[in-house]
Parts: sequence; C-alpha cells; structure tokens
Amino acid sequence: MPEIQPQPGIMDIEFYQAGSSHATGAENTVKLSSNENPFGPSPAAIEALGKTAHMLHRYPSTDHLPLRKAIAEAFDLWSDNIICGVGSDEIISFLCYSYAGPGDEVIHTEHGFAMYRISTLAAGATPVEVPEHRRMTDVDAILAACNERTKIVFIANPNNPTGKTIDGNTLRDFCMRVGKKTTVIIDEAYNELTQNPEYSSMVDLVRENQNIIVTRTFSKLYGMAGMRVGYALGRSDLINIVGNHVMAWPNIVGLAAAHATYAEDDFIEFSLEKINQGREILNSTFKMHDIKPLPSETNFVFADIGRSVNKFEPKLRERNIQVHRAYSLYPNHLRVSLGKIEDLMKFRKVFSEVYTS
Ligand SMILES: Cc1ncc(COP(=O)(O)O)c(C=O)c1O
Repeated sequence: MPEIQPQPGIMDIEFYQAGSSHATGAENTVKLSSNENPFGPSPAAIEALGKTAHMLHRYPSTDHLPLRKAIAEAFDLWSDNIICGVGSDEIISFLCYSYAGPGDEVIHTEHGFAMYRISTLAAGATPVEVPEHRRMTDVDAILAACNERTKIVFIANPNNPTGKTIDGNTLRDFCMRVGKKTTVIIDEAYNELTQNPEYSSMVDLVRENQNIIVTRTFSKLYGMAGMRVGYALGRSDLINIVGNHVMAWPNIVGLAAAHATYAEDDFIEFSLEKINQGREILNSTFKMHDIKPLPSETNFVFADIGRSVNKFEPKLRERNIQVHRAYSLYPNHLRVSLGKIEDLMKFRKVFSEVYTS
C-alpha cells in the first residue's frame, strides 16, 4: 500500500467523458458532441483577444470587477452578487468546497451534469442521486430526499443531456420549499437558448435574497467554450465566501473577451436564429426514421434511437461524425449537439445511411 493516499472521495470519481474533440486521422471531422455554439466566438470577442494579447505577461485582477459590474448591471444586481470562474465548472466545484464537506450530502438528479458528482466527491461530501420521472427532474422526489445533512441541491434547467426544462412556477415553488440550511444551485448554462414561455430564470429569487445561487456560462450561446469563463449570481453573503476564501481567478484574455461579447446583440441574434434552424434539421432527421427526439430547449437534441448506441456511435465516428457517447448513462440514446447547417446536413446523410443499413 503506497504511503500517500488520495482522500477517499477522489477514488470514487469516474473519468469524465467530455464530448470527444477529434477523430484520429480525420481532417474534416464534424463535431456535434460538446454543446458548443459552432458560430462563435463573436467578432467582438476576437477583437478583445487581440487587444489583450500584449497583457499576457500580467496577472489579471483577482476581483475581475469590470466583468462582474457588467453582469450585475444586466441583471439589476450588485457586483457583490456576482462571481466569475474558469468556466461554470470551476464555480460548481468552488461552491461544493465552500458549502459541503465530509458527512454532508449533495443532491443531483439521475443523469445530471457530471460535475455535480465530481465536485461533491472532491469536496469529501456524499453525492445523492435522485431518479428522474420520465426523463424529467422530479422536484417532489428531490424534496423527499432532503434531510438535515443536505447542504446543496443541484438542478440544471434546462437539463443536460435531456434538454428538458422545468416550468418557472414549479421550480420557484420547489426552491421556496427547500429547507433554509440547504443552498439550491440552479445551473442555467443553457438559459439564453431557451424560448419556452413557461421557462423562467431563478435570478428573481436571488434578487429576493433567497438561498439560491444561479450559475451561467459564456461557453454556450456566447460561443466561448475554449476560453473557460462562467459566473454565478447569488446573495452577497453566499457569493463572498467563494470570492474571499476560495480563489476564483479566470484568465486575462477570457475576461476581456467575455466582457466584449456580453453586449453583442447581433452575434447573439444571429446564433439563436441559426441554432433554431439547426434544431429543426436534427428533429426532422430523427422524425424521418420514426424516432421521437425529446423536445429540446437547447443547442442539442436527445433521442432514443431504439438500439445500442455502443454499437451505433462508432459507425458514425468511422465516418467522421462525433456525437456524445456516455453510453452507460443512456444506452439507447444519442445526444447530438447543433453544428453549422452544412455539418448537420452531413449528419443527416450519414445517420440515415447507418440507421437504414
Ligand atoms: C448543465 C451544464 N452546466 C455546466 C456546464 C459547464 O459549462 P462551462 O463550460 O461553463 O464550465 C455544462 C457544459 O456542458 C453543462 O452542460
């Protein structure tokens, strides 16, 4: 037995299967695996990168105040309510380190975003997985699972990989019923992509000083996944624990690019229009083969193709199409991220050929 041992939770973390980034030897791979915005980054982000390049030898300010102020203004909050991190992934981790430890429980939903479990275990706390009901987050089951050890509940809305949303009233009611000693973290990574009138952000509850933290990201609609910038909005006393005690410190170019892209309405509008068109192509591709995808509010579509993805996905990959492949989570489902229209047309062709062969 080696003398140096990691803390026990670390050994329970399985390798994170991120969307694959490249296929060996393939120049023209169509990447539809990571829920990115294929139209990004925006022109303003690229310009900001250029302008910041000569600053790379400098550390960024630790308080990243300009970006926090811009976000606060957009949400009618104070900069004390905002913290930025190296992707919302880092904020998820820092929230776990800040609010959960050995003996505490952290709830996430079945098939919930992998970082919830990873960060919980890294903090030495215990993840509690609550089953979904027909691929929907089951808020009653979550309430039933809460107890005096529950320190955090994570809910992604819209959810990944299902793409489904919980309506605003149901989620708000849930947040108000969770005990005062539990922080509810609503992960709104896909918020800006959602056009469902019944959906609503839980940032209102932050304004009402509730025990709620909302996380957002520049990786999805803003088209900056490679830059790794995310943020959280919450009550200042909750956010300051992370800001003052755990070091959240995004990089200098990422901060500048995120700031520049934040108010760039034309890019956002253009991306949304293309993403909506792309979603239709994916939905109709599945429907052509009598497959019913789950209604998606996001930049990806999740569909039960009625056969083993473990066998099916490699056939797509051989033909340079990459889709998400966490087989163990959903053995008959494909999660296909949106791409440029021409890439989705390639997916349609290859998928149809493989499916009917
Ligand atoms: C639900 C959800 N939350 C958070 C993230 C992480 O985003 P970021 O790139 O900001 O770390 C993802 C990424 O896929 C996601 O699907």
